[in-house]
Amino acid sequence: MIDLSFNRRLFPALSQTHDGKPVVFFDNPGGTQCPQMVIDAVSDYLAKDNANHGGAFATSQRSDAMLHDAHQAMADMLGATSPDEIVFGANMTTLTFSVSRALGCELKPGDEIVITQLDHDANVAPWLLLARDTGVVIRWVDIREEDVTLDMASFEAAITDKTKIVAAGYASNAVGTINDVKTIVDMAHAAGALAYLDAVQYAPHGPIDVRTLDCDFLVCSAYKFFGPHVGILYGKLDWLNRLSAYKVRPADDRPPGKFETGTLNHEGIAGTRASVEYLAQLTDTTGARRERIVAGMTAIKEYEKTLSARLISGLQQIKGLRIWGVTDPARLDRRVPTVSFTLEGYRPRQIAEYLGQRGIFVWDGNYYALAVMERLRLEETGGMVRVGLTHYNTIEEIDRLVNELKMFVR
Ligand SMILES: Cc1ncc(COP(=O)(O)O)c(C=O)c1O
Repeated sequence: MIDLSFNRRLFPALSQTHDGKPVVFFDNPGGTQCPQMVIDAVSDYLAKDNANHGGAFATSQRSDAMLHDAHQAMADMLGATSPDEIVFGANMTTLTFSVSRALGCELKPGDEIVITQLDHDANVAPWLLLARDTGVVIRWVDIREEDVTLDMASFEAAITDKTKIVAAGYASNAVGTINDVKTIVDMAHAAGALAYLDAVQYAPHGPIDVRTLDCDFLVCSAYKFFGPHVGILYGKLDWLNRLSAYKVRPADDRPPGKFETGTLNHEGIAGTRASVEYLAQLTDTTGARRERIVAGMTAIKEYEKTLSARLISGLQQIKGLRIWGVTDPARLDRRVPTVSFTLEGYRPRQIAEYLGQRGIFVWDGNYYALAVMERLRLEETGGMVRVGLTHYNTIEEIDRLVNELKMFVR
């Protein structure tokens, strides 16, 4: 296991202070900080290459070369076969609304879509609205309350011979559970349905291989993996070729252009490419980019297990605190280091405010994971407090949080 927190020096935001104390960024599931190389890539693009797509002059040509390599970089990160399988957009939510509409053209009333109680609303609402507009039927997959994992028996029951789409998350933004996405994809395919995976929360925490998973679509967001605010959709080329896109007539008729509506956020995409380069040089500086990314992400996964273990055991010392999600030290590979809790006698916002005033930034509420908060009956009481770690966090930061919480409940 490599302690990756030495990379902190590459992130200017991490040296900020609040009331004289170093800021602890535990709000990572809401958005991670950026290394200097990402910040430089955004500003260099704007300073030197800023141009629209397809022009007959140098800045446009340099900009297009960057866009091409950014598609290739994301293909390398996700294990896609071709850069044409990568679509950039405003964010995961917008891309999912867009593709769900295109998929809707292939559905008829009575067809079924399977969604889960554990998903962020961005992988729920687009399908609910599609059902409202097309007469397609929604089937929900339940959770197991004791460890907030998906109930796989409920999953099997939800899939029928009418299922056309199975939409599920790779990891939960609410409680950190990693779902068994390979089994989910296989179950979808066995029923003749396609699998749409939301990897927004998993992407900063471990390697992704869309070919091994065999998923039909997978979405993520660069601002969750140390890049700017840009969304990314992977789609199997057959699907992207086949689907009819909502697009303007002069735009490209082929993927990925046909789904990249309007002028893209070029500077953000330049930064996204740099964030992939950051991950690719974490542990290895030689070899193909894909191999280096997998090595970096595997190191992140291992290091973050030690962070999860420390955080969970620290939180368990606080009287009246309940962790929602996997806590068993033997099952840490079933979660990302996003640990959420409630504390008897306090609303989550009170705790987040107390910590925020002391320079420890955590999230509170439902973080748009509405279904699971309702299912756990926590929506009316303000949801949960979410402590979301990433590889630039340290054991010392975790201990500081635990000490502050001990003072809070004293
Ligand atoms: C699991 C998950 N899915 C989807 C989203 C939405 O992503 P975006 O902000 O890129 O639309 C988020 C954002 O927090 C998320 O955590």
